[in-house]
Amino acid sequence: MSESSQEITDQKTKHLYIETVGCQMNVLDSEMVVAALRKKGYAITQDPALADTILFNTCSVREHAEEKAYHNLHHLKQLKLQNPSKIIGVMGCMAQKDQNGIFARVPFVDLVVGPGQLHQIPDMIERAEQGEKQQLAVSLSRRDGTLEEIKRSHETFDPLRDPEMRPTPFQAYLRIQIGCDKFCTYCIVPMTRGPEQGRSPEQIVSEARLLAEQGAKEITLLGQTVNSYKHKDGDKTTRLADLLQMIHPIEGIERIKFVTNYPKDMTRELLETVRDLPKCSPYLHVPAQSGSDNVLKRMKRGYTVSDYYAMMDRINEILPSAAVSSDFIVGFCGETDEEFQMTVDMVRRCRFKNSFIYKYSVRPGTKGADIYQDDIPEEVKHQRNLDLLAVQNKISLEDNMKFLGKTVEVLVEGPSKWSVRKHQEGDLRQMTGRTACDRIIVWDGNMRQVGAIMPIRVTDVFAFTMLGEVETTEVLPEVFQLSV
Ligand code: SAH
Ligand code: SF4
Ligand code: F3S
Repeated sequence: MSESSQEITDQKTKHLYIETVGCQMNVLDSEMVVAALRKKGYAITQDPALADTILFNTCSVREHAEEKAYHNLHHLKQLKLQNPSKIIGVMGCMAQKDQNGIFARVPFVDLVVGPGQLHQIPDMIERAEQGEKQQLAVSLSRRDGTLEEIKRSHETFDPLRDPEMRPTPFQAYLRIQIGCDKFCTYCIVPMTRGPEQGRSPEQIVSEARLLAEQGAKEITLLGQTVNSYKHKDGDKTTRLADLLQMIHPIEGIERIKFVTNYPKDMTRELLETVRDLPKCSPYLHVPAQSGSDNVLKRMKRGYTVSDYYAMMDRINEILPSAAVSSDFIVGFCGETDEEFQMTVDMVRRCRFKNSFIYKYSVRPGTKGADIYQDDIPEEVKHQRNLDLLAVQNKISLEDNMKFLGKTVEVLVEGPSKWSVRKHQEGDLRQMTGRTACDRIIVWDGNMRQVGAIMPIRVTDVFAFTMLGEVETTEVLPEVFQLSV
């Protein structure tokens, strides 16, 4: 019997309820916290009423996400009153941003833990069990120490993994970069996640090997600006293209993706590496944020619209079959109708596979909040959001139409949302999967297909999904190449 299972059987099983919002970084962080707590004998429950510990992994990127977190926390009051020994913790970006402010707003919260202190959670829970109330563990803020001290306070504990916590065991995230130094004027992330740090290539590669051994076929490398990844060791500098070369030979890994990209760092060398390594997915998420130079300048994004178009030309030249997706913020401070129209033009010209469109949300603590007026009325933001989405959806649909009748190579993820909603049971289900280019496809299949990479023929398309059926005739590999 291994040491960890010994530990588990020796203790009463406790239950953890964990709720995660925000980006992939948070999904990964939750996976690690769960792994650490399982070692302490915890099992997961979907019911907060049955949980000994309740954790909320939070996001601060927009006000709405925070308000919802506070609202959900207030809802736990009754449970806490019924059972005062229940431990309630807030982790993630809102914990780092609001710190003691969380105890002020929700006094029955026991733990507030920033993204750089998650490894302390098991000990903090133990102390809470012994009666220690309102424990706070957060990183140094960006002004409270030397750069080295601040960096150290933002450490993560990535090597600890729990494959069972992943949405699917054969898909895994791998963090290659912590934090962000870009300081876009609207964005809170550099404050919540601290200075940009590239993890060491040795750690990354050994973690990729471990993930492959655990059955991961698809690995997604994570960083806020993943293609700015840099790690210096003496005079040796490792960049993302080098990492891809190092991970590519690992047996078992069949697809490698990376998000999120920063337009300025989408180098020719990186694109050529993606082209030359067959396991690298030609899928590039490169948020543009706006199609107006004036707005980009106010956002301090560090590139112009023509720089972005030059990058698109580079992508189209080197990776003609690539799918490019973007994020946009509408209604940023001072955005005129003309400036918004330039964003619409950009979407039309770049023909993104899809775009995530957000209404600007002022974030106290950012430069934007200090120096600009959040002066675009909510109705205008809302209308711009709808208008841009309509343009994007039409393009996504047209783009998907090209796949009608073609066969695509799909990594099968599991039963579709529809199947789950309809409580379909048994082996035969509607299944969902993704192409290497991140296109979602559903078909009538069976549970034995989960985790396989298989050919599906596209029979109908919508803006966000495609419908298909299993291709039964033998498919030549070139057909996949044509139709990813
Ligand atoms: N690091 C990534 C994105 C991080 S946040 C990048 O640089 O692209 C994800 C997205 O949220 C951003 O791309 C942006 O479109 C949006 N976002 C960030 N701050 C926001 C704010 N204050 N209001 C509205 N949307 C915001
Ligand atoms: Fe935020 Fe900009 Fe950094 Fe992305 S690059 S995390 S938008 S500051
Ligand atoms: Fe949100 Fe933090 Fe990610 S603010 S978007 S969870 S890095």
